[in-house]
Amino acid sequence: MRATVRPYVAIIPFSGHISLAVLAKSGKAGVHIVPHMVQYAFSRSTDPFVDLSSQDAFNEGAPFATFARMRRDNPMEWVEMSDGSNGFWNIVRHADLLELNRQSDLLSSASGIRMEDQSQEEYEARKTFQETDPPQHRAFRALVSKAFSPSTVAGYDGQIRNIVNDLLDVALEAGEFDAVDAIARRLPMQMLAQIMGVPTEDGDWLVEKGDALISNSDPDYTDFVIDQVDTEEYRLLPFRSPAAVELFDYANDLLDRMDAGEQIGVLNLVRQPTSHGTQMSRDEFRNFFCLLVAAGNDTTRYSIAATIHSLANQPALLSQIQSPDFSAWDQASDEMIRWASPTSHFRRTATRDFEYHGKQVRAGDKVVMWFLSGNRDEQGIADPETIDLTRPRNPFLSFGQGGPHICLGMWLAKLEVKIVLQELSKRVRKIEQTADHSYLRSNFIHGIKHLPVRVVHK
Ligand code: HEM
Repeated sequence: MRATVRPYVAIIPFSGHISLAVLAKSGKAGVHIVPHMVQYAFSRSTDPFVDLSSQDAFNEGAPFATFARMRRDNPMEWVEMSDGSNGFWNIVRHADLLELNRQSDLLSSASGIRMEDQSQEEYEARKTFQETDPPQHRAFRALVSKAFSPSTVAGYDGQIRNIVNDLLDVALEAGEFDAVDAIARRLPMQMLAQIMGVPTEDGDWLVEKGDALISNSDPDYTDFVIDQVDTEEYRLLPFRSPAAVELFDYANDLLDRMDAGEQIGVLNLVRQPTSHGTQMSRDEFRNFFCLLVAAGNDTTRYSIAATIHSLANQPALLSQIQSPDFSAWDQASDEMIRWASPTSHFRRTATRDFEYHGKQVRAGDKVVMWFLSGNRDEQGIADPETIDLTRPRNPFLSFGQGGPHICLGMWLAKLEVKIVLQELSKRVRKIEQTADHSYLRSNFIHGIKHLPVRVVHK
């Protein structure tokens, strides 16, 4: 039977740590307070005209109302950049994302994959295989794809389960904790460190540096906030971030050891010659290492954060996975990653003029693929506002499905979210969110960065 759980109905529109009793007494019209049953909305954003070019666009959670308006009224909207640089087209419908994402000859990744403009010099200095197109892309990807294939990743089951249970031992003992700090932020890096063959003790440092890179728009993670301070000096570094210098030093050490014949996790694979006879240079390896540390961490983290947020705010979901006959773990993991949509977009660049939805796109125009919007499009996903843990054949787009760059770490991320669900279901009786959560300041990565919870264990 297909069991579904309706989303929360009560949205409590407060920010900060206001006492519930105060709110309850205030008797504010439209606010329904039931102590111990407070439900915190996944997104508080209701504005249908959020400026998507702004790093503040997701400060109140994903601007789902803006995407819903665009999907309905203007599926190919042009947005000017608020900083005066070149604007971009927005692809927001599920069907359009699937159709265009596979056309790398029309929409190239080889001029940058984020909204910012990049000069050729910047592009060359910072590129990884993610910023290349087939066939060059395919040749490099082939070197590493086996290390992240479903069968290889399945072999990590026990290691992931051990890490999750070690984290849960500490968190459940504490009872109240920030679910992001205690679980979501720790698991992905600890596992990635084991795969890459670097010491687990380096994990915290790598996470900190990875955050400084990919969360370069949030002052909680870097002093070099991309749209607030002058980062010109760092324009040739990944994410225009000085943290990359430290990661480059770390990668240099790995390179020297590999050159001396040492085998380091899966990293030696990427330095093999490709079928085209080319080899990743030291510069390219350093960028690739930064990509892994950044991309391999925060996206899984925000999927786990969204998972725990959902279990806390829709207790029926926890009951569902605790039911003795529940077995749809793979579907549940996919559904949570659809719901989380941690990478809100990736950008492409038009290689030639073309017309789409009546709009004239010019060669060189930036085109932004909003995978997050596709994941909420009722034309592609049945009843997208409902978390359906048994959703059959989930056509979600969180991993850039349909395109040549479909996430390399997809099977690993799915397995980690699945194991978190499984172990929580075994060990937890109740999860409550105890105060409001906060969102990452970024229009690129979408996620809850602090999630205070109280957990009653079995
Ligand atoms: C839920 C977690 C994750 C999400 C939502 C996610 C999302 C994505 C998306 C949307 C892309 C496609 C980019 C594009 O179309 O240009 C991508 C690519 C990539 N991801 Fe992930 N990712 C996740 C986890 C991971 C992990 C755990 C790793 C590393 C172990 C990783 C490494 C990569 C790499 C290397 C690429 C580039 C692949 C290529 O260009 O061929 N990701 N990811």
